[in-house]
Amino acid sequence: MKIAILPGDGIGTEIVAEAVKVLQCLDLKFEMEHALVGGAAYDAHGHPLPDSTLSLAKAADAVLFGAVGDWKYDKLVRPLRPEQAILGLRKHLGLFANLRPAICYEQLMHASSLKPELVAGLDILIIRELTGDIYFGQPRGRRTAVDGHFPGAEEAFDTMRYSKPEIERIAHVAFQAARKRGRKVTSVDKANVLETFQFWKDVVTEVHAQYPDVELEHMYVDNAAMQLVKAPKKFDVVVTGNMFGDILSDEAAMLTGSIGMLPSASLDKANKGLYEPSHGSAPDIAGKGIANPLATILSAAMMLRYTLNQPEAADRIESAVRSVLAAGYRTGDIWSEGTTKVGTREMGDAVVAALITTKTITKS
Ligand code: IPM
Ligand code: MG
Repeated sequence: MKIAILPGDGIGTEIVAEAVKVLQCLDLKFEMEHALVGGAAYDAHGHPLPDSTLSLAKAADAVLFGAVGDWKYDKLVRPLRPEQAILGLRKHLGLFANLRPAICYEQLMHASSLKPELVAGLDILIIRELTGDIYFGQPRGRRTAVDGHFPGAEEAFDTMRYSKPEIERIAHVAFQAARKRGRKVTSVDKANVLETFQFWKDVVTEVHAQYPDVELEHMYVDNAAMQLVKAPKKFDVVVTGNMFGDILSDEAAMLTGSIGMLPSASLDKANKGLYEPSHGSAPDIAGKGIANPLATILSAAMMLRYTLNQPEAADRIESAVRSVLAAGYRTGDIWSEGTTKVGTREMGDAVVAALITTKTITKS
């Protein structure tokens, strides 16, 4: 099992190091190869996604990714900005299905900005289409307007578009995921205004005919944003386009207490995947050793489950994380009165220690 390790920028290197440590203490053989990506790759090679990094990612069975980006690259032309690395990986590896679970751990329900009773036991799965929509739609650019409110003025434009097969395949991912959970899919659109999302709604409805055992509801994105903070537990699987999914997944993350807890998987049609925390590179706290590594550690668990077919190892990591939380260890983002504040490395060590303990228990 070959894993490409791409730590990236900011807190990326610190949190990925902890996930690697956790993977190394499993009784599994991995070949791990590191490569630069994002701003770090730009500094060393003049490009955020060098060919060598892309070929490594293509050759590996799975990719473990940290985060990219730093304000200091904001002035670069768009193709050289760190964000292009993750967008390029998604595109070149065909990672169209982004799974972002939002689970509220019992011990963390007080860290949520919502009332504990609204989020206790929350377990939703956001499935975001990841290689289409306005993120990748052509044409896009700047030009002189020929019509609109100000003909002759400078303007910028992007293109929102989805083809039928793109919607069909993400709808299948959502319905199949729902079968393994609460059997309910909420498809989020803006069909009341946008042609692209009327089409989205029509195609999802058509695919649903193959899944009579799963309930399908349609919801406009503005209402979905509201329902997520009003009654989040009513959702099971949420499926939506690239841009709405970007926004709603950050919102859902906050329900759980901290975005520092949330893993994600980005899968291709054969379930090969890139695994990354749902959060970004957090340059403001980079290098301080205080970032929460749990989202990345849980991303490694998702990697074992979805791509590497090691569900038991994935379960072990997830239960180690639960026991570390139960023991009261907290990084700053999830800390509350009465718990023990730890740094990035100590949190990783605590997970490793919990894994070793569970191993001893199973063996004795
Ligand atoms: C995410 C991020 C990315 C996105 C950025 C870094 C390009 O916000 O993974 O949600 O917008 O998809
Ligand atoms: Mg985002």
